[in-house]
Amino acid sequence: MTDLTWEVPRIMPLEFQSLNKFGHRRVRTDAQATIDGVAIDGLVERFGSPLYVTSEQRLRANIRRIRQAFAERVPNVIHGWSYKTNYNGAVCTILHQEGSWAEVVSRFEYEKARALGVPGEHILFNGPNKSRAILERAIADGALIHVDHLDELEFIERIGRERSACVPVTLRLNLNTGYTESWSRFGFNLESGAARAAIARVKSSPHLRMNGLHCHIGTFILDPRAYAAEVAALCTLAREVEADGTRLGYIDIGGGLPSRNALQGIYLPPEQAVPDIEEYAEAIGSAFLVGTAYRVENGEDRPALVFESGRAVIDDAQSLITSVVGRKELADGRPAAILDAGLNALFTALWYDHPVRLASPARGEPRDTVLYGPLCMNIDVVRRSVQLPPLAVGDRLVVNPVGAYNTTQSMQFIEYRPATVLIHGEREVSVIREAESLEVVCGPERIPPHLSRVGGETARIVPLRTTGG
Ligand SMILES: Cc1ncc(COP(=O)(O)O)c(C=O)c1O
Repeated sequence: MTDLTWEVPRIMPLEFQSLNKFGHRRVRTDAQATIDGVAIDGLVERFGSPLYVTSEQRLRANIRRIRQAFAERVPNVIHGWSYKTNYNGAVCTILHQEGSWAEVVSRFEYEKARALGVPGEHILFNGPNKSRAILERAIADGALIHVDHLDELEFIERIGRERSACVPVTLRLNLNTGYTESWSRFGFNLESGAARAAIARVKSSPHLRMNGLHCHIGTFILDPRAYAAEVAALCTLAREVEADGTRLGYIDIGGGLPSRNALQGIYLPPEQAVPDIEEYAEAIGSAFLVGTAYRVENGEDRPALVFESGRAVIDDAQSLITSVVGRKELADGRPAAILDAGLNALFTALWYDHPVRLASPARGEPRDTVLYGPLCMNIDVVRRSVQLPPLAVGDRLVVNPVGAYNTTQSMQFIEYRPATVLIHGEREVSVIREAESLEVVCGPERIPPHLSRVGGETARIVPLRTTGG
């Protein structure tokens, strides 16, 4: 027999939802007791709460479906795994096993990709901040360097001159597709002439060589036509670049394919609002075949098509288990629950209404509930309004999708960061990132000698370390 939670009876005002022509948004109030067949209660007992849970099976299925959708339409397609989306070593390794290259945007990400065994020539190096040391290493490794701005281009040229070498470069562009807001802060603008000026600059230098064109039109792009317009513009420019006999190795269309997450402000549920991956592959593939037909007419192979999808690959392959630590009744009568994970572990709650399900059977009718995180900060809200049955302390909630941009953007703010486990094989579970501890968080701190005595006693806040001398 399940214990029912007693709730104080109350009189509620009857509120009519605003009418809309789409009907009611679908709300899931059924329980989710397992992930890939593994009991959520057992996971929490073994690894604690909160806990990120990654599904290897789902991750592999996602990347295979996406790769296949592109490969069926375009002869030479390369997927670059966007490290910033989720750079857990196990996640990256799975994707590299599936054939994805690495797309990195910083020294840290570059070093991580190399440490995971990715060869330089399979690393797409984006980002506006590449220091001399990491650029030199990347050039020596044969990495594919995507130039963001003119100063960086001059910097690379100087390195080439010093080495009496000719460095292949890919220019990052930004352009107006007519369907999306132009991300004009990255790369060289196409419409203003900055992109063509940069191309001319590369062509005039004996130490630089045009290797590719890159563009990332934005993220969570809901209209496949935006990609068709992007690809058409890039191919037109590629043809222009190649008119003098230059040959580009690839055209990189960036990432931005949406996941099945619930973007705030979009009324329809994700399964209705988000087009299938195949619709994107069709729009991109058709535009690419048309745009690169000039190569085939010349009896040559087309350049490779590179895409850097992040969220569409990983988002629904990771869940966050979080537990109720307390309940409140708000001044307006709505129930609220305090969870042990908030914005610190679920940064994307700032722009998604993450689907949330209870791990145990409902004890009553769903009500409009507010979910707060554990931080002593007013902004720490996981859901401002979600239909959930009455909650009790200790209840476990499953939040999914959370695989994109949460573990990488999670912060050690007030709380320790939780562990991440991977479910694989026959319901096997492996830790792929330990939960943080005092040692991990405070290990890099140092207490100078003049502060190491507190009230005559030597400060012994083990493991805080003192500096020498
Ligand atoms: C250059 C670049 N490529 C790829 C991505 C991955 O984007 P998404 O996760 O939307 O696919 C990003 C994310 O911002 C990016 O900046």
